[in-house]
Amino acid sequence: MDGPVSSDGTRPAGEGRGAIPPGSEEEHATFDTSVAHLARVYNYWLGGKDNYEADRKAGDQVIQVQPEVVDSVRAGRAFLARVVRYLAGEVGIRQFLDIGTGIPTADNTHEVAQSVAPESRVVYVDNDPVVLAHARALLSSSPEGATDYLDADLRDTQTILTEAARTLDFSRPVAVMLIAVLHVIGNDDDPYGIVASLMNAAPTGSYLALSHVVSDIEPQKMEEVRSRLNRVMFQQSTYRSHAEVTRFFDGLELVQPGVVRVQEWRPDSEVEAKRTSRLWGGVARKR
Ligand SMILES: C[S@@+](CC[C@H](N)C(=O)[O-])C[C@H]1O[C@@H](n2cnc3c(N)ncnc32)[C@H](O)[C@@H]1O
Repeated sequence: MDGPVSSDGTRPAGEGRGAIPPGSEEEHATFDTSVAHLARVYNYWLGGKDNYEADRKAGDQVIQVQPEVVDSVRAGRAFLARVVRYLAGEVGIRQFLDIGTGIPTADNTHEVAQSVAPESRVVYVDNDPVVLAHARALLSSSPEGATDYLDADLRDTQTILTEAARTLDFSRPVAVMLIAVLHVIGNDDDPYGIVASLMNAAPTGSYLALSHVVSDIEPQKMEEVRSRLNRVMFQQSTYRSHAEVTRFFDGLELVQPGVVRVQEWRPDSEVEAKRTSRLWGGVARKR
């Protein structure tokens, strides 16, 4: 499946694949609910309702070894919102390419960006059919801005860049956002090459924002989590160390405080700063 659904293009929300009604027969025909999927397991941890028994079982298996996972995913969402607010507010970025969007929840990228700058333009990319079924919620752009949804695979950067160019102007700075998605890109799929090809397409003054599941905080527990999930989840995970995550920013200028636990990245409250995430996160500028 592929194809865009645009908030301001020739295929308005309601006419594209994003119009598949959640829970409809059409939606159910497009995916297998008996196997856990990352988007739905993540939705379960976040307290959402867009998940199935297999997802809840997988999620619970992780909670058994690591109850903090629930706090970790919340810290991850809060990081996303702070990063978008920083980029739209302090930096003045007006274009966002959010790959690995997830099932819509509170504070989606366009809502945060357009609350700061209504003219912000956001392209969402995910390859999960449930996210696609909810794409309409991601397309509620402000009249001054625009949103688009691409049903595409992160590994297919050429398709993403070509289709995103319908909404984003790649001669102007773009924030490439890879929030909690690169851990399902194995080393055989060249994750560093994928990030480099996205950043090569963006001009000077663009930003890379990413978070990534850790391998080197409580490493034994993390290995147990990874192997439990890999037994039951469709996507296979590769967790990475601080050094391996920092390598994604090679050639870019890291914004302070660098690559840190996401709750330590410019927290805006003590509650946020005290969360216990298992995610490294950082933001960097293209020189
Ligand atoms: C853990 S969720 C993170 C969602 C969101 N970025 C956040 O931080 O709240 C990861 C998302 O990446 C998507 N994803 C996984 N592999 C992908 C791929 N190869 N291409 C595009 N999206 C992918 C999943 O479907 C899921 O929605």
